[in-house]
Amino acid sequence: MTTDASLLFSPLRIGTLELPGRLFKTATAETRASADGFVTDAVLDFYRPMARAGTPLIITGNIYISRQAKSAPWQLGADHDDKIPGLARLTELVHRHGSKMFAQLNHCGRQIVPDYVGAAEVVSASAVKDLLTGTRPRAMTVDDIRRIIDDFADAAERCQRAGFDGVQMHSANGYLLSQFLTPYTNRRSDDYGGTLEERTRFGRQVYRAIRARVGPDFPVIIKMNGADWLPLRNGLKTPELVRVAEIMQDEGVDAVEISVGHYESGFPMVCGTFDRCLRNMLDGSMAALPTPRRQLLRIFRPLVALASNWLWPARQGFNLDYTPDFKARLKIPVICVGGFRTRDAMEAALAAGQCDAVSAGRAFIADPYLYAHLRDNTTGPRCVDCNACVGHLGSQPADCYHPAIRAEKDAMLARIEADATQRASNA
Ligand SMILES: Cc1cc2nc3c(=O)[nH]c(=O)nc-3n(C[C@H](O)[C@H](O)[C@H](O)COP(=O)(O)O)c2cc1C
Repeated sequence: MTTDASLLFSPLRIGTLELPGRLFKTATAETRASADGFVTDAVLDFYRPMARAGTPLIITGNIYISRQAKSAPWQLGADHDDKIPGLARLTELVHRHGSKMFAQLNHCGRQIVPDYVGAAEVVSASAVKDLLTGTRPRAMTVDDIRRIIDDFADAAERCQRAGFDGVQMHSANGYLLSQFLTPYTNRRSDDYGGTLEERTRFGRQVYRAIRARVGPDFPVIIKMNGADWLPLRNGLKTPELVRVAEIMQDEGVDAVEISVGHYESGFPMVCGTFDRCLRNMLDGSMAALPTPRRQLLRIFRPLVALASNWLWPARQGFNLDYTPDFKARLKIPVICVGGFRTRDAMEAALAAGQCDAVSAGRAFIADPYLYAHLRDNTTGPRCVDCNACVGHLGSQPADCYHPAIRAEKDAMLARIEADATQRASNA
């Protein structure tokens, strides 16, 4: 197949924005910001090669909209106007190379270990304890809801002022917006709980507040689950989530990206192997768990890894299990994230009409030049789904932590840098 005939490298419109290709960098928390959420050189270093490679759209890792929304150390923030100049450095870098960048806006709700980020209090739709972390949130009052809606709108406006090309509402993976959608975590009896329509009210109001602030032409997209994956709990199944997507489309959302699972689900979100992942987690994000819970995890780690390896083996395009149902009912673009590595798998999903674009996280962490490599039919370091990077989320900078793949990546980046220096000195 020639590049010209390729669907993957054909344009796609998201709202007012025309993108030259259909492979995007999905959100992966950078764990590279300063302690108080400012852009650092390490953040720029992470995105520079992806932009240089011509990646059409890069979505940032989740950015906290307020101090209360912060879920992990070294996370980027858009909670205050003083963050705008740093964020503008990031968008200038990406634009210089011709890529576009969306900011993913998030409030973590109950999905947080309070001691890990020094959180004063934890809020959610209802006071439902998180089985993984043991965190029990306080149910939000209507005043809390109004304030958080404003926080989302303020953060979106800051991102627009910083030069982002759009924003993504993070309504997937069990964070606050997802907590409102899911009956297991939303047991409210007021206007924000009850029927599916009522459980979408918070998300709809967040969207409207953002839209009112950024104007009609600024792309606003949403990341949401194709399934909640909460067995024995009252999670959402695909048909209900498709209905949520339709409601958000009617509101004016410009595209949906489909993921899967909450943190409480285990690891359906990052299919692969989990030995390195769990080991890194216990030394990193899980180190802040209460001692008995941490000890329990430490003892059962090999068993948990074995079960997880069996339940969620690596598979390209694992959220294609859900996206056709969204495609059948939506007019806006449907983006599928999850396990994509090869051009063949991406092209096949697009050709079969299972989605309009694909996005990838770990594949770009292993090979930030992935887009150029696939476009030019050349090879780069290939992610082996070991999830060591997931294990370091929140404790080490986002990067590849598989020794052999990391060595290959570092050598590739050094080679490209040396070539660029050589070209510059010849010019
Ligand atoms: C290190 C790391 C950090 C992540 N951070 C985020 C995040 O900030 N927001 C988000 O929506 N998903 C996040 N994810 C999930 C990815 O967006 C994606 O759904 C998942 O990795 C599956 O896609 P992949 O197989 O292409 O990696 C993260 C994943 C990884 C590996």
